[in-house]
Amino acid sequence: MKKALILIVLISISLSGYSEHSNREEKKESQNYINSYRNMKTLNKFEFPALPYSYDALEPYIDKMTMEIHYDRHHRAYFNNFVNAIKGTEMESMSIEDIFENISKMPASVRNNGGGFYNHVLYWEVMSPNGGEISEKLKNAIDQKFGSMDELKKLFLDAGKSRFGSGWAWLSVDKSGQLFVSSTPNQDNPLMDVADKMGVPILGMDVWEHAYYLKYQNKRPDYVEAFWNVINWQEVSRRYDMLVK
Ligand SMILES: [Fe+2]
Repeated sequence: MKKALILIVLISISLSGYSEHSNREEKKESQNYINSYRNMKTLNKFEFPALPYSYDALEPYIDKMTMEIHYDRHHRAYFNNFVNAIKGTEMESMSIEDIFENISKMPASVRNNGGGFYNHVLYWEVMSPNGGEISEKLKNAIDQKFGSMDELKKLFLDAGKSRFGSGWAWLSVDKSGQLFVSSTPNQDNPLMDVADKMGVPILGMDVWEHAYYLKYQNKRPDYVEAFWNVINWQEVSRRYDMLVK
């Protein structure tokens, strides 16, 4: 009886030690992730960034007129409306990522226009006429998580095709450093505390009609397939490599 009691006490001590250790590890892991994420925050919320290529650079996949209207009218409107929506509020001194982490408490105009601004900056950057090479590290992570690049392509494009109404498809990294594919409605994104699954997006595809209607009309699947040809894998890899050490 006495022996059994001693055994129980020993097991409890060892389990509590393990749980403390695993909590510490989890906290450390989460801290590393947060640090990497904070280092990668580069978006100045008061600056309207230049398009990194010309309007016709992504032809024939994305036509010149769509690019011009999308960048210079839709995107600019999100930016202007966002700046106006945060003017004179505490959000002026917060990073856009911190605003997103608390978006459920913010006005709808901030959620819609702040999301619109951030999402489009990412969208322009993860496209390119000559996409470059995917890093070995990201390639391995994709193979490990999804089985192959083809499987990721299918999942990601399906997320865009099946989003009802307007929205986005994403490839993101969660707090444990794992890749995941998701989709959000309207101008939401995975950084927002309203997202079904939160993470840092490294690839985003706009599936609003304004992104494709002039060339593809109602054929969203054709645009989605075309998008795969203009992904800037070098930039997607840069974002991944910065987040996951
Ligand atoms: Fe858009």
